[in-house]
Amino acid sequence: MTLQVTRVGSLNSDQVNFVLRSAMLAPSTHNTQPWLFRCTGTGIELHADPRRILPVTDPDRRELVLSCGAALFTLRTAIHALGFHPATSLMPSRVDPDLLAIVRPLAERTPEPRAVGLARAIPRRRTNRRPFLSTAVPRPILPLLRHATELEHAWMSILDAEQCRLLRDITDRAHLGQLADPAFLAELHRWTELRAGTRDGVPSYATAGSPADESWLLDEFGAAGAGPRADPLVVLIGSLTDGRLDRLQAGQALQRVLLTATAAGLDASFISPPILVPSARAELRRLVGSGVWPQVLLRFGYGSPLPWTPRRPLEDVLLGKPVSA
Ligand SMILES: Cc1cc2nc3c(=O)[nH]c(=O)nc-3n(C[C@H](O)[C@H](O)[C@H](O)COP(=O)(O)O)c2cc1C
Repeated sequence: MTLQVTRVGSLNSDQVNFVLRSAMLAPSTHNTQPWLFRCTGTGIELHADPRRILPVTDPDRRELVLSCGAALFTLRTAIHALGFHPATSLMPSRVDPDLLAIVRPLAERTPEPRAVGLARAIPRRRTNRRPFLSTAVPRPILPLLRHATELEHAWMSILDAEQCRLLRDITDRAHLGQLADPAFLAELHRWTELRAGTRDGVPSYATAGSPADESWLLDEFGAAGAGPRADPLVVLIGSLTDGRLDRLQAGQALQRVLLTATAAGLDASFISPPILVPSARAELRRLVGSGVWPQVLLRFGYGSPLPWTPRRPLEDVLLGKPVSA
């Protein structure tokens, strides 16, 4: 038995296949890919996959919803790039909290050049955890990244050198706390020691070459002997309130920012301890000011090419009526 992709609204089955396979390339915490899709005659439903919760790392499912938001933005972008309008309802059900969105592809039109550019970046985007090159990120990119965030109803703060220095200390303390928690380490190892043939979790080659200590991400200097590096570009994506809808929107903003950066030739990686550890998140919130709730902290720069991280087969993330293979 297998699940079959069928026509959805104006999209034929090949187009539905394309947009779903694109959505699955979104980033997710530990590559858990915590999303499920159901194709109805008129729309594509995005559901959170409760089997993919990280009880220790993400007890309130904040990162799960962010990851699903990233998949949602990717789905919308792929539909846009095919020349359809992705009419989107967020959190449409009062009874089913796992139904996060319904996207209905509407009338065909000329594909938007901006959406086409972002869609081309979908398969090229990678999380790059290795040290970046010393080339500084050109400042004209900053308004592009900020605008990308605001288009998805989230906020961006760009940290200055002093804030990065203080963030380094917050990150160090938060990370030490994480390393002292056996349950956190067990969950981390479960998802990052990928067995051959597994199509979820983070493969060792994706983390090879990146120091285990996360505060190096904020260093102005690379590995010993690598010479001075440019100031790191560190940005925070935040929301005005901290509910599920805010997180879903922040996840969409995250992916719009990442694709915008990829299209501009930039690489990105995540700085998570100050977001995941509640006391550190409170400190980060005070550090950045302006009342926003920190959702994602990213570092941008220029890196060397990386192989891709595998994804689950499409059939694993499809909900629906089984039909005979
Ligand atoms: C909300 C969120 C949090 C993440 N946190 C981390 C992190 O703490 N450390 C890390 O190395 N990668 C982090 N990632 C990146 C994922 O590990 C990555 O997306 C996944 O392994 C798939 O690889 P790819 O992004 O190269 O496609 C995060 C991604 C998301 C969406």
